[in-house]
Amino acid sequence: MTRLPLRFAIGEARFLTVAEAGPADAASLRSHARQVARESDFLNAGPGERVLTLQAQVAFLRRLRTNHTGFVLKGTIGGRLVAVLSLVRPSQPRLSHRSEFGLTVRAAHWGQGIGRRMGEAAIALAAQHGLRKLNLRVRADNRRAIELYRTLGFVQEGRSPRSLCVRGRFFAEVMMGLCLN
Ligand SMILES: CC(C)(COP(=O)(O)OP(=O)(O)OC[C@H]1O[C@@H](n2cnc3c(N)ncnc32)[C@H](O)[C@@H]1OP(=O)(O)O)[C@@H](O)C(=O)NCCC(=O)NCCS
Repeated sequence: MTRLPLRFAIGEARFLTVAEAGPADAASLRSHARQVARESDFLNAGPGERVLTLQAQVAFLRRLRTNHTGFVLKGTIGGRLVAVLSLVRPSQPRLSHRSEFGLTVRAAHWGQGIGRRMGEAAIALAAQHGLRKLNLRVRADNRRAIELYRTLGFVQEGRSPRSLCVRGRFFAEVMMGLCLN
């Protein structure tokens, strides 16, 4: 049984704490979204695009808890938010067994095993929540993310050409999925 918060050693003397984010984290989640949009070209939203208002972010986090439509995990080191993983599930009965998986880690912390820790925790919790299928879409040239997802157990289910347009250049996305039994 996986219970939050979780704590992992990262390097010599630092610890990653993984916990569920709630309405009180809305401001730091917005700030994280703004930062990662500046740091990575692989995301659906670029700098200055599509960050929820504080009010909308609070409402979103409240709704997740009230309607049991998923959860957001926050990864912190020394109290600073470095990673966010969301699993959002539709409420319709025919779709509610599945969930969309979204993960971002601050650039200064890439390659330290944080994405893997967050992913493993989310998959264990998803199974506990009764989810049976996780879905994600990732830019086809995002090798780091695809390799991470593959080693977490996701398999490629399809490829969608011209799925993203970044500064006038088209990129394909691959769809990946993980069945939970
Ligand atoms: C993709 C992302 C979430 C990965 O997080 P991370 O903390 O850097 O990943 P980890 O350090 O846990 O590495 C996980 C795996 O990725 C793979 N990986 C890491 N660096 C890699 C590289 N340069 N090239 C290819 N694969 C790489 C490895 O399989 C690694 O596992 P291992 O070191 O245990 O063998 C993070 O880089 C990120 O947020 N990027 C920007 C936003 C983004 O692309 N999000 C995904 C959108 S779908």
